[in-house]
Amino acid sequence: MRLIYVLSLVVLEVVAETIAQNETQFSYNGFQGSINKLHLGGLAKILPNGVLEMSDYWPSDAYYPDDIVFEPNRLSFSTTFVFAMPPPLIPYQSSNGIIFIITSSFDFQQIPSHNCLSSSNVFAVVLGATRKADKEDIDGNHVEIYESCDKPADTAIATYYSEGVNRTLLLNSGKSMQIWIDYDEVDMMVNVTLAPFRTPKPKRCLLSKHLNLSTILVDHYKLYVGFSSGNGIAANTHYIQGWSWNQSGKAHDLDPFKLPKIPLIKHQKIWLNLLISVALLVVLLLLLIVMIMIMIIAAVWLVRRKKYKELVEPWEKVYTPNRFSYKDLSLATKDFHESKILGVGGFGKVYKGILPSTGDQIAVKRISHNSKQGMKEFVAEISSMRRLRHRNLAPLLGYCRRKGELLLVYEYMQNGSLEKFLYGKDDKSSLSWSSRFKIIKGVASALLYLHEGCKQVILHRDVKASNVLLDVDMNARLSDFGLAKFYDHNNDPQTTHVVGTIGYIAPEVCRTRKANTSTDVYAFGMFLLEVACGRRPTGKQDADTDDDAKALFLSDWVYECWKRGDILKASDPRMEGIYQENEMELILKLGLVCLHPKAEARPSMRQVDQFLDGSALLPEMSYESDPKVRDFFVEMQPLTSSSLAVLSSTNSVLRYGR
Ligand SMILES: *[C@@H]1O[C@H](CO)[C@@H](O)[C@H](O)[C@H]1NC(C)=O
Ligand SMILES: *[C@@H]1O[C@H](CO)[C@@H](O)[C@H](O)[C@H]1NC(C)=O
Ligand SMILES: *[C@@H]1O[C@H](CO)[C@@H](O)[C@H](O)[C@H]1NC(C)=O
Ligand SMILES: *[C@@H]1O[C@H](CO)[C@@H](O)[C@H](O)[C@H]1NC(C)=O
Ligand SMILES: *[C@@H]1O[C@H](CO)[C@@H](O)[C@H](O)[C@H]1NC(C)=O
Repeated sequence: MRLIYVLSLVVLEVVAETIAQNETQFSYNGFQGSINKLHLGGLAKILPNGVLEMSDYWPSDAYYPDDIVFEPNRLSFSTTFVFAMPPPLIPYQSSNGIIFIITSSFDFQQIPSHNCLSSSNVFAVVLGATRKADKEDIDGNHVEIYESCDKPADTAIATYYSEGVNRTLLLNSGKSMQIWIDYDEVDMMVNVTLAPFRTPKPKRCLLSKHLNLSTILVDHYKLYVGFSSGNGIAANTHYIQGWSWNQSGKAHDLDPFKLPKIPLIKHQKIWLNLLISVALLVVLLLLLIVMIMIMIIAAVWLVRRKKYKELVEPWEKVYTPNRFSYKDLSLATKDFHESKILGVGGFGKVYKGILPSTGDQIAVKRISHNSKQGMKEFVAEISSMRRLRHRNLAPLLGYCRRKGELLLVYEYMQNGSLEKFLYGKDDKSSLSWSSRFKIIKGVASALLYLHEGCKQVILHRDVKASNVLLDVDMNARLSDFGLAKFYDHNNDPQTTHVVGTIGYIAPEVCRTRKANTSTDVYAFGMFLLEVACGRRPTGKQDADTDDDAKALFLSDWVYECWKRGDILKASDPRMEGIYQENEMELILKLGLVCLHPKAEARPSMRQVDQFLDGSALLPEMSYESDPKVRDFFVEMQPLTSSSLAVLSSTNSVLRYGR
């Protein structure tokens, strides 16, 4: 029994001896390779290039896979490792830093800074841990030595001695650094030396502490040596690039060329991600803004399109040169502003405008129309009218068509319509006889041109004072072809609706519904009386004490005056008798002749023109002497009155029908 006991002791002794002789030594330039160089716990991992990565926010540890044995009297050790601590994502966040630890417990989380059991034996060197409780050491840029859990045995701010001066090191700068930890059993001194990586080990150490580690190291056969990190708040990572350990002498220096490089610092990646996210966000925002802008532009465009929408039909392509864009007209007339209205008639309103493109002054007549019928011919006529050139025609520049609306564009005439001068309230606007005579001649010449001067016969169908415009030099310009009708010289005009203005419509038109040149002559006759007498063809005349002025119809009244042998009495009182009597008489008589109820008895415009310029003489007529004339007027009176009575109205009504 005793022998067995002794033997067993010897065996144990031998075993102890062999164990004692195994003084661990290794030097790892990176942790990659086939051999399991480290035992990993928690979030610790070895990157493909061999760098050990440890998390700062989740328990991570990595230790030498075998236990380490310290034999009494052989307690010295020497170790060095290269590490990098990226800056914290958020400054001053608490971090546990990197802990180099020699402990008896497997549980590396029993590390100095927190919940470390007082019973466990620990030797640790802590790099860059922040202590919230320790206000003065908030930045964590220090190195600490622990020999128990309670509090550091020694602390120093991270510096290194080089070329005679202490230089500060920023532990969490992300740069690689090297630390040397040496324990000498004889001196019982722990020396900790710090330096930037690739710098030789400084002669002076950062910390040099007298410690009796025999209790910690010897009392436990099995010790674990390695690194720990984690339980911090900051989402940082720490890296260890290489590690050398020696219990038999100085730890081997690590080979700077063999050490793996730390990856692009994670939080730089985070910054990069953040930057990319922000850039993406900005791009998205820009896209959103662009989209919103596009939508706004589209909406504006749609609104504008609706506002400026025109009616264009395929057949109108030919007439494009005659077309004005509604937009231009709208811009020219300031959106058809009230202040731009030149006149209002039964047909619609006339606006003054300035074409934005050319700066030309224009008059835009806005006629409402709903019928599509006849529009094609009408537009064709407009375009042919555009080709008409006569100094007494108000040039029609073109047209524009919208739904339910037709716009005719004329050259703007500075002096407006003749009507204004004839019936204007102020005396200043009253015209002299010579002007009136010139205007009459001008209108006659324009009508002659329309009737005979063009390829086709053109009927104006609405000759009246309000359709005669005056230019700067008070020249007459016959305008408003809105009712004009074309037909070939040899053909009969087509039957149409009765068109024109009440008072100017020849009596036969009401019966036959056919307009021809003589109906224009009739209207012209009424126009002559209008100009000479300064009165409207129908309706109440201006306040006039004269009994004769009670006459409802201008033609009747002039006729009465003539019958009494005093035709000049019918002249416009505003001229106060200042006129050429022979001319006045000519005009009044010519007016009556043109108003002959029988169309065939009326002169042609060519004859009218000749009477006016004196190249032909108006046949001398007197009521008593000429039975023909008598018949004419006997016939005329009831007919004129009745036909007008049917349509009695003081307004100028334009019946627009095609
Ligand atoms: C101790 O070292 C010897 C040779 O140096 C070796 O054969 C033996 O396996 C080692 N023992 C242990 C436990 O590592
Ligand atoms: C260098 O730093 C150490 C540790 O902080 C300190 O003890 C020492 O006095 C410093 N030496 C110089 C020269 O600053
Ligand atoms: C520790 O440093 C002191 C001087 O600072 C030196 O005398 C001693 O040899 C060093 N010990 C080790 C193990 O490096
Ligand atoms: C170191 O500690 C051990 C164990 O507590 C003790 O036996 C030894 O005497 C100590 N050495 C010195 C020099 O104090
Ligand atoms: C350990 O130290 C001894 C003696 O200095 C040396 O021969 C050996 O190479 C060292 N081993 C390592 C891994 O540093």
